[in-house]
Amino acid sequence: NESFSLQPDSPSLSRRKLLNFLTGAVVATTTGAALYPAAKFFIPPSETSEDGGILAKDQLGNPILASQLLAEAPGSRALIAGLAGEPTYLTVREDETLSPMGIVDNCTHLGCTFPWNSNAQQFQCPCHGSLYDARGRVVRGPAPLPLKLTRVVVKNEAIWLYPWHELDPRTGERPWWV
Ligand code: FES
Repeated sequence: NESFSLQPDSPSLSRRKLLNFLTGAVVATTTGAALYPAAKFFIPPSETSEDGGILAKDQLGNPILASQLLAEAPGSRALIAGLAGEPTYLTVREDETLSPMGIVDNCTHLGCTFPWNSNAQQFQCPCHGSLYDARGRVVRGPAPLPLKLTRVVVKNEAIWLYPWHELDPRTGERPWWV
């Protein structure tokens, strides 16, 4: 995982914890993918908004602040606990905002979890070799469909996640998961 680089000149404790979590999560993803293709290893967050959103949290159940993720370089990915406990990748964009497209870490072939390869700029499924581009479109099968999306909304530093019901901007069509 090269999504985040640790700075040698002592980041704050909270930031270091976050980085440790993110690194650990990706390692867990890779290991879990090999052993338990459909495993969901996150505990679903419980905080919800009135309009059906849930707060993005780390594995300790602490809300993740947008500023924590935006402190990382553009192009970085963070793996967080998403809707229904599905691990979800959030992306720091070039304009230093979070992408509204969260990408669910669940391969559309047989449900393995997978790491982000920053060198190749791809999500690479270790189970049967499917490759997805940075937006979750299939580059190489056997995956038949693009990765599921989650809507990401930042409000006052909090990161809220919602089911994605709108058209899929990658295909211009109704999402396959709706
Ligand atoms: Fe990902 Fe088969 S589960 S390629």
